[in-house]
Amino acid sequence: MKETDLQLTLERATDAVRAKCARPCRLLLVLGSGLGGLAEEVESPVRVPYGDIPGFAVSTVPGHRGGFLFGELCGVPVIVMQGRVHFYEGYPMWQITLPVRVARLLGAEAMIVSNAAGGINRDFRVGDVMLMTDHINLLGMAGNNPLIGPNVDTLGPRFPSMTAAYDPLLRHSAVRVAAAAGVDLKQGVYAGLAGPNFETPAELRFLRAIGADAVGMSTVNEVVAARHAGMRVLGFSGITNVARLSQDEGEPPSHQEVLAAGPKIAPRMLAIVKGVLAEWT
Ligand code: HPA
Repeated sequence: MKETDLQLTLERATDAVRAKCARPCRLLLVLGSGLGGLAEEVESPVRVPYGDIPGFAVSTVPGHRGGFLFGELCGVPVIVMQGRVHFYEGYPMWQITLPVRVARLLGAEAMIVSNAAGGINRDFRVGDVMLMTDHINLLGMAGNNPLIGPNVDTLGPRFPSMTAAYDPLLRHSAVRVAAAAGVDLKQGVYAGLAGPNFETPAELRFLRAIGADAVGMSTVNEVVAARHAGMRVLGFSGITNVARLSQDEGEPPSHQEVLAAGPKIAPRMLAIVKGVLAEWT
């Protein structure tokens, strides 16, 4: 997409949201598979369906509801992104990252993102919450990076740094909060793939060898767009299944299994996110 086209798309979408809801917003929350319960905690919510925002894509995946939910969480004005679209659904990168950029233009200075992920680290169990310390953007490294194309200078620089993609201060806050709440918070590196098929055992062994602790089909695109636009990022993976590193290990993963783990993960993630918000300055 041309720079002027993207700029125009951004302006149109931002204006459409503002026309429906003039609430302030400081933080964007992106909810992954099975974790939509966080939206129920939002006080005085106003929902703007994605279908009402020009340029926004509407997800086709069961378990993903589409809309921007404005409101307050622990006193912080937030937008909860209910549902997101994925590369495997066939959407272009500019459309996958449009909600993050619009939230930025609406005032969001940070993003908390969650996802469902397969655990590669042998210490991880179904139901664990992993604090993302870094990511490996295999999609981006293979040429599908949302920043490819003319740079929108009003959003951010041509060559943004990803050195501290996951904000060290926010991570400290999450670790402190989890310890105080007695939640066992794992930490690790998330590998972002295109999907939609789950990985082969050989691919999983490859991911383990390159330093990945968890694997999923989302998040890295939104994080790259958010960092480009100068947003601070905090990310969590809910471990919904554990990787079978050989064909003889256990049952193969399924989307049902991924959704079924949500209720185990949601209360822990909720406790951590609420604690981090309570410390928000
Ligand atoms: N692989 C990729 N994405 C996923 C997985 C997985 O095992 N579990 C949940 N999302």
